Amino acid sequence: MPLQIIVGAQWGDEGKGRIVDWFASQADISARYNGGDNAGHTVTVGSRIFKLHLLPSGIIHPQVTAMLGNGMVINPRTLFDEMDMLNRSGISTAPERLRVSYAAHLITPSHQALDKALESARGKGNIGTTGRGIGPAYTDKATRRGLRVADMLSPDFQERVGDHVNETNQTLRMYNAPALDPAPVCAQYREFAEWLKPYIADTSIELDTAMQAGKTILVEAAQGTLLDLDFGTYPFVTSSSTTAPGALTGLGLGLGAARSASVIGVVKAFQTRVGSGPFPTELTGDQAVRLRGTGANPWDEFGTTTGRPRRVGWLDIVLLRYAVRINGITELTVTKLDVLTGLENIALCTAYRRDGKTYTDLPFGPSDLSPYEPVYEQFAGWKEDVTGVRKWHELPPAAQAYLDRIASLAGVPLRLVSVGPEREQVVEKI
Ligand code: IMP
Repeated sequence: MPLQIIVGAQWGDEGKGRIVDWFASQADISARYNGGDNAGHTVTVGSRIFKLHLLPSGIIHPQVTAMLGNGMVINPRTLFDEMDMLNRSGISTAPERLRVSYAAHLITPSHQALDKALESARGKGNIGTTGRGIGPAYTDKATRRGLRVADMLSPDFQERVGDHVNETNQTLRMYNAPALDPAPVCAQYREFAEWLKPYIADTSIELDTAMQAGKTILVEAAQGTLLDLDFGTYPFVTSSSTTAPGALTGLGLGLGAARSASVIGVVKAFQTRVGSGPFPTELTGDQAVRLRGTGANPWDEFGTTTGRPRRVGWLDIVLLRYAVRINGITELTVTKLDVLTGLENIALCTAYRRDGKTYTDLPFGPSDLSPYEPVYEQFAGWKEDVTGVRKWHELPPAAQAYLDRIASLAGVPLRLVSVGPEREQVVEKI
């Protein structure tokens, strides 16, 4: 398929990075289209662990050209640090292999300060944002006063940065937050502009040309379906379109591109969430610690970007079916199956109940899930270590039964299962 879109089918952190890495071995281009450095995508290659926040995970493969699309909000500081980290690991980030859309928006220290000020003003009702300035940068975009990557090419860029800092200072003062000195921000952003110039491109044209030439384009969504601005658990969402249709507008691809697209939904074998908001199948106490881990391992359920412990619970099929519909998911990938090994029983939420009625679909989307009670189907667990399994028929029958049930309830075929953090710890079903 020329266009493969990899989306998170939950609240983010589904393990998209390592799945992108798996598909990227066959790709020509790896692109991101939404969000910014609020994302945290981990790829493990032997003893090396790459934690990427901005760059698409496919960049680790030498034949891939990476693209940052117009739908993104880019903090140049993070981009610089991430490129430096890759360069030091021997992975080239030369302009031939990294293209940044002229129409993407820039995140500044003012956006970050405002993100934090808004969160503290929300008090108990806070969203639990990553503090990376994502919401304020998208707000500036929507109110048509944002700074775009193309502005870096303009002779008055520094002046515009100064105006932006001064304007944002007015809002910061309203929230009793300290104002920022524009001078160091302007100087820093002038340096960033000089450095970023060779990378600035019309990625829409470059993607179109690549598609016409029959190249394979791998698109990586950040966050997850349930954090989508329109379709997530609003207002406890991020500020971008995290779902597959957003890939078209976030990359400047026309509708025709969708004809050749496969949409790979990545879902963990259980459910997790960082930050506030509803979570019907959430577990607490010892059961939660069992799924989350203690933080001793890099794959334990602690945020890649913030280090916060993630909330954990049983897999929720009502929400997965919703994600399949909203994204148009064509195949599923289930990650972290190995974490369930050793559990006596595994519960799967197959429906919700409210006032004696059973629901398998949500009447008004997932924003208010509080009136619903999960209905569980119970599965026997398995004791066998699955981390060395590479063939479907070698998985314990109980694991196969659990996975088959997920795919049949979701209504899409299962393509891949990950059984450990390493690149090759993957079982292909179809
Ligand atoms: P923001 O994107 O920083 O504005 O945060 C909004 C919400 O999205 C918060 O609940 C964050 O915890 C959550 N969030 C943002 N990025 C990610 C991610 O990459 N994985 C999981 N949750 C995320």
